[in-house]
Order: sequence, then structure tokens, then C-alpha cells
Amino acid sequence: MGNKFRKIGVLTSGGDAPGMNAAVRAVTRTALARGVEVMGIYGGYRGLIHDDMIELKARNVSNIIWRGGTFLYSDRCLEFKTEEGMQKAIENCKKHGIDGIVAIGGDGTFRGATDLSVRGIPTIGIPATIDNDITATENTIGFDTAMNTVLDMCDRLRDTCVSHARCNVVEVMGRGAGDIALNTAIALGAVAVVIPEMPFDADATVEKIRHLREDGKRSFLVIVSEGVENFAEGFAKRIQDETGVETKFARLAHVVRGGSPTLGDRMLATKMGVHAVDQLLAGKSNLVLCQRDSKITTVEIVYSQCLDRMYKGTLKEGMLDQFSEEKIAQMKAEIEQKKKDIADLYTLAEETAR
Ligand code: F6P
Repeated sequence: MGNKFRKIGVLTSGGDAPGMNAAVRAVTRTALARGVEVMGIYGGYRGLIHDDMIELKARNVSNIIWRGGTFLYSDRCLEFKTEEGMQKAIENCKKHGIDGIVAIGGDGTFRGATDLSVRGIPTIGIPATIDNDITATENTIGFDTAMNTVLDMCDRLRDTCVSHARCNVVEVMGRGAGDIALNTAIALGAVAVVIPEMPFDADATVEKIRHLREDGKRSFLVIVSEGVENFAEGFAKRIQDETGVETKFARLAHVVRGGSPTLGDRMLATKMGVHAVDQLLAGKSNLVLCQRDSKITTVEIVYSQCLDRMYKGTLKEGMLDQFSEEKIAQMKAEIEQKKKDIADLYTLAEETAR
């Protein structure tokens, strides 16, 4: 692969996610194997602005594939959004001879990647966020681990619920996306799940719990996505008041973001890390890696971002002008499919929670 790359940078940015270390390892090892040097940039884009980076050798990424968090640290860097911050970042890339960057994170990270790309630093994004809220990919790095952590925590809650004939309302992270809540609710056999994507019948759920308790059921889990704001704690009180079932509220919060990545996340991170380097060396830029139909592939970052906006209904005027009619039709089909997948899972959750 004849290429002009002598050195690439790798960074992790935004909320950390289990599997980020595995991705950095794969990027580093692949680049070195292709004869390209690697700079590890500390604290996401902040490290690029403030020249906080080290050269990574193969030994520097030994024994990190199983570790949670990110050994390169992470940050949500506001300074990078300013032209001044951006220029400092580019100067530092030039100073160190960094010819391209692999940016690992969520949608904010990809915005930064585009900013670098359009200013002449080729950049490839790897989706890593527990939220799984990048529409273009079936899976983001960290999502599988986060769900398994929720399962572990809630299985423990279930033990004590059964002993005391209680209900637990559990709020889980996910930002605006209900993916963690929906999937774990099914796998936990929760009595109800509350997510931003679907309407929720609170009255019917309270009635269901009352009825099931009368029927002898001793434990109840209700999983609520944090995207349904200011709901979970009050709903716990309402269940207790109206059913007589003692009800506890638990917010799992950041505990779900830590821990050793699962096999699934280590595999995804490794495949994406290798692919990202090969994309850069093949002269590609401004792309985000995706898993589609279980295969690792790429889409343009702008496609991924507009797809997310279309899904959330936050597209601004003119944003779709750059796409052909065919591409726009493809986007609409992807959104419809995602909505259908969520509705189908929601039905599965309801049908198995009777
Ligand atoms: O995007 C990951 C995430 O953990 C979300 O689920 C959550 O809403 C947010 O980050 C929390 O952010 P912070 O770590 O800044 O509190």
C-alpha cells in the first residue's frame, strides 16, 4: 500500500466507552505493522490544541485490550469549536508531522473530525459511545458492555426485590436514545420499559403491577431511559402509592460507563481500529466507520450526521441540498427501518412482560 503517511495521531473524545482502549490498541498495532508511526493524543482534541501527546510503540498498548475507560483520557473540548483552537491543533499536527488522525468517540467527536478534514488533516472517525445513538451503524463500541453492566446490576436488584416483594424503578443512561433501556428491559424480563422513542401508558403499567402483585408476583423491574427526563423517581413513588408495592428508585448513572469491555466490544473495536488505519492509508478522509449487515464499512461523516438529524427531526434548512435524491431516499429508508426495529423490540418487551 504505497502511501504518503509517515505518522498518524489517535485520540479518544467525548464520553468514554468500554472498548476505547481496544480500539487505540488496534489502531496503533496496525499502523506500526504498516510502517507508520503513531502519536497518542491525550484528552481528546484538548491534547491536540495544547500539544499533549506521546509517541506510541507496540509495548505502550500492551495489556489494555481488557481495560475500561481510556488510557488516553477524554474530554468534551469547547475550545476546539473556536477557529483559534482549531488553528493551534493544526499547527501541532504540522509540528509533529501528523499526516492523519483516527478520532474515537461519538457525534461531537465526528464534528471535530470533519473540522480537521476540511482544513487538510485527513481524519477517520470510530463510533464509541455507550448510547448507540449513531444511526448509521448497527453498533457503537461500548454499547454491548454497558448493556451487560445494566443486566448485572439489575439481576442483583431482582434478588432483593424477590426477597422483599418490592418493585425497583431503574434509570439507565443513553442520552436521547432508549437503546440501552429497551434491550436490557427485554433481557431482564422487566415489567415495563420507558424510552423517548415510544409512548408510555403509565396508568396501564400501574394497574398491571397492582394486578400481578395480587396474583402473587413478588418482584418488579421498570427500566427507564434517562432520555425520558424527570420521570423515573416520581413514577416509583406513584407505583408505591397506588399499588401498595414498596418501590425503590435507582439511577445507575456512570457506573454503566465503566468496566472491562465484553467480547463483542473488543471484537468491534479491533475490527474498526484496523479498518480505520487502512482507510487513512488508502487516502480516505472524513468518514465514519460503521457496522452494517454485520460488516465493517464506512459512510461519509456528513451522511452520518444528517441521518442522525433526520432521525431526531433536527435537520436545518438546506442540509440535505448536498445529497442526491437517491441518497435522500436511502436515508429515509434507513430511518424507517430503525423506527420499525425499535417498535418491534418494544412490542417484544410488552408481549413478554404480561
Ligand atoms: O454519551 C454518553 C453518556 O454517558 C450519556 O449516556 C450521558 O447522558 C452522558 O454521557 C453523561 O455525560 P457526562 O459524563 O458528561 O456526565
